[in-house]
Amino acid sequence: MSNIKISVAKGDGIGPEIMDAVLNIFNAANVKLDYEYIDMGKSIYDKGFSTGMTDEAKVSVEGNGILFKGPMETPKGGGVKSINVTARKTWSTYANRRHFQSLPGVDTVFSKAGIPIDITIVRENIEGTYGGIEHMNTHDVAICRRIISRPGSAQVIRFAFEMARKEGFKKVTCAHKANIMKLTDGLFLETFQEIAKEYPEINSNDIIVDDLAMKLVARPQEFQVVVLTNLQGDIMSDLCAGLVGGLGFAPSANIGDNISIFEAVHGTAPDITGKLLANPTSLLLSGLMMLRYIGFVKEAALIENALRYTLEQGVHTADFGDRALAPSNTNEFAEAIIKNLGKQPEFSKPREAVDGVELFTKTENKHYQKMMVTPLHTEQKIVGVDFFVESDLPASEMAKLIEPKLASSQKLIMISNRGTMVWPTGSAFTECVDHYRVRIEGTSSQVEIFALLSAISADMYIPSHEVLRMYGSKPGYSLAQGQ
Ligand code: NAI
Repeated sequence: MSNIKISVAKGDGIGPEIMDAVLNIFNAANVKLDYEYIDMGKSIYDKGFSTGMTDEAKVSVEGNGILFKGPMETPKGGGVKSINVTARKTWSTYANRRHFQSLPGVDTVFSKAGIPIDITIVRENIEGTYGGIEHMNTHDVAICRRIISRPGSAQVIRFAFEMARKEGFKKVTCAHKANIMKLTDGLFLETFQEIAKEYPEINSNDIIVDDLAMKLVARPQEFQVVVLTNLQGDIMSDLCAGLVGGLGFAPSANIGDNISIFEAVHGTAPDITGKLLANPTSLLLSGLMMLRYIGFVKEAALIENALRYTLEQGVHTADFGDRALAPSNTNEFAEAIIKNLGKQPEFSKPREAVDGVELFTKTENKHYQKMMVTPLHTEQKIVGVDFFVESDLPASEMAKLIEPKLASSQKLIMISNRGTMVWPTGSAFTECVDHYRVRIEGTSSQVEIFALLSAISADMYIPSHEVLRMYGSKPGYSLAQGQ
């Protein structure tokens, strides 16, 4: 294979230390990569770039299609967004793939019990609460919009099934909370069930996410591939990292159709920066995912086997391993792996040079943003509006103020507080905050809705509203608890 150029951002804190260690291992294994070093992270924020990256860095990543990055610090406060999240979202790396495996020399409750762990979490990487769309609706109430889209769900779910098919996984599990969030997680689950039909050879099932948390801790060997929405996937990934010895052993790949980002999952570890105490394993394993993605499968197997052999010999950094053996520093750890290139692990199955799923093809210049829309099969019809009102009045008083403003076709259906119905019926024991939802039905156009809101807003503050629409025979809105 000829040399492939990738963009490399060493990152902040321990980033440069672990990146240098990993690139030394790559060079020793004769990996044919050319590195284009770019500036991203704290030093760039400090120079006044609010995105945390220079224009040259952006051009480099968009041109090469691959970013290998160390951890980066997000400045606290000041409205600055995390560069890590921004990069994943801007470049549409919709699937976050994380692999959690038992490693020799890394003692955990499960390794001591002889239970091997090999779980891949595929987390949706763009949507959900990570849209970061938040508002203070009243002085007392903040809201966050959790966007789940059909095309966004389909991308990540299809990725999980394609990965399972090409890499020989037998089972894909969808974890969700569709019993509570019937529309958002319901859409994710429905998309999963539709796509699963295209992969009949793969056993597919679903599980409520809290049940998943319990079962991962009790019987992790039952899971192979788990696909989840963004925040739930984030939490479950860290839980899985704990099962295999911590974040230091958890690699991460953010895969998109055009650009992919490979990074360690831990942060910049400011407490140990500059002391050469950092463990480079997470970044190295992420780098191996990158090598397989690009097609350097032999080199990836060579390095992973050397890593496993090295761990079996008891070589370790200060954060893990046998306390009776002196720890190595970051560079000594990397040098031990380099010395062991060509060796096979003795106590665990060696890694074979098999092709990965995600074969990288470079995308040439893109000039516009892709619109993803699925065909519409049902009729959409406006039937009403939910609007939110800031008020500390009792719900019955609110109803008295609202009802005279309604046209004859319009009807006040219910008022809820924090999702629980408090009018026309409810319990005196339901505690309320100054943020009511008012549901009106019997209106069929946006023009009518805005006229109504305009009339009501003379008396009340309406921070937001949602139009109620039917999609065929299905309501595109949820009922209040108690309705
Ligand atoms: P952290 O992961 O940096 O540190 C947590 C603890 O783990 C510390 O005790 C640290 O010494 C230890 N640790 C982390 N990586 C290690 C390694 N490779 N070897 C040995 N020990 C290691 O998390 P923290 O302190 O919450 O975040 C610090 C900074 O990192 C923040 O600015 C945060 O925004 C950023 N961060 C960046 C991420 C990324 O670039 N993907 C991810 C998470 C945090």
